Amino acid sequence: MVGRPTYGRFGWHHARMDQLPRIELAHLPTPLVEYPRLTELFGGPHVWVKRDDLTGFGLSGNKVRKLEYHLGAALEAGADTVLTCGAVQSNHCRATALAAARLGLRAVLFLRSTSGRPPERSVANHRLDELAGAEIRYVTPDEYAQRDTVMSSAAAEMEEAGVRAWVIPEGASDVLGMLGMARGFEEMIGQSADIPGRIVAVWHAASSAGTTAGFGWAAGRSGFPALNIACSIGDSIGELSDRVGAIWADAVALGLGSSVPSPDLEYLDRYVGGGYGIASKAQLELQDKATRNSGLLFDPTYTGKAIYGLASEIAGGRFSPDDHVIFWHTGGGFAALV
Ligand SMILES: Cc1ncc(COP(=O)(O)O)c(C=O)c1O
Repeated sequence: MVGRPTYGRFGWHHARMDQLPRIELAHLPTPLVEYPRLTELFGGPHVWVKRDDLTGFGLSGNKVRKLEYHLGAALEAGADTVLTCGAVQSNHCRATALAAARLGLRAVLFLRSTSGRPPERSVANHRLDELAGAEIRYVTPDEYAQRDTVMSSAAAEMEEAGVRAWVIPEGASDVLGMLGMARGFEEMIGQSADIPGRIVAVWHAASSAGTTAGFGWAAGRSGFPALNIACSIGDSIGELSDRVGAIWADAVALGLGSSVPSPDLEYLDRYVGGGYGIASKAQLELQDKATRNSGLLFDPTYTGKAIYGLASEIAGGRFSPDDHVIFWHTGGGFAALV
């Protein structure tokens, strides 16, 4: 084992962060584990996996970290109902529905479906939403494009009827969600001291960008030396970086830091396949091989594309066999069953 690196105080405003309400929902810390059979499969660096798929069973994945801040704030505000949105197979909506069930809150989910009607069969995350007792409202893609307005008008109507509503944006990707992921990154920094070599990259699937914003926020302020790689699963680099920039600007405006961070952060959009929710044959095949060489379950929409991206960069000679790379498993195993 090498000496434990020290990154000093994290250099951002913990005092303010600690004053924010947070409720414990995730089983933490999630393990950071080496997967030599993935190294063998990809023919490259040491591959470590940060197991955020293990934040819970139903209540699993990166979204649970974000919900700790959102639902903490909702409860402190006296909310009895939470509203959020996503695709029919959204991991975030499923996690919200189950967390709400645990806390005795009503969950109202705005799910995007092509026709604006329920799919013929409810499976995987969608079925879990139903089992958790969430109220589901289906919206067309056009309505979904106006999701913030749709949810705030619904919340306003509820408030008029005496409901105390709390709106969580898509993917819980705002400052509160960012804080959950920044906290996760700090957790990983502590664990990474046990990795016997140079950590060159932390690799994650990126979409609504709260995860990237949180990792970048913590990395920039801690001086953690590895490159953060945000592997897009559907959006362009410009869309992702604009979202991250907007979240950081809000965080600074809220006094959580004096300036936006400048972490070592790279966005990749060459592994988006056919776009959100559409994986290529090669991506699905690689995802299956990765499962057979690790016992890990990947989500074709998110982690499947991210592991494909990592394998492709390794195949392209990006890392050396002595390097250590951390693949952040953000969860989503239920969608592997769709
Ligand atoms: C399994 C999984 N991984 C990664 C992501 C992407 O995280 P973010 O939306 O914070 O970019 C999501 C978001 O839904 C997800 O469900």
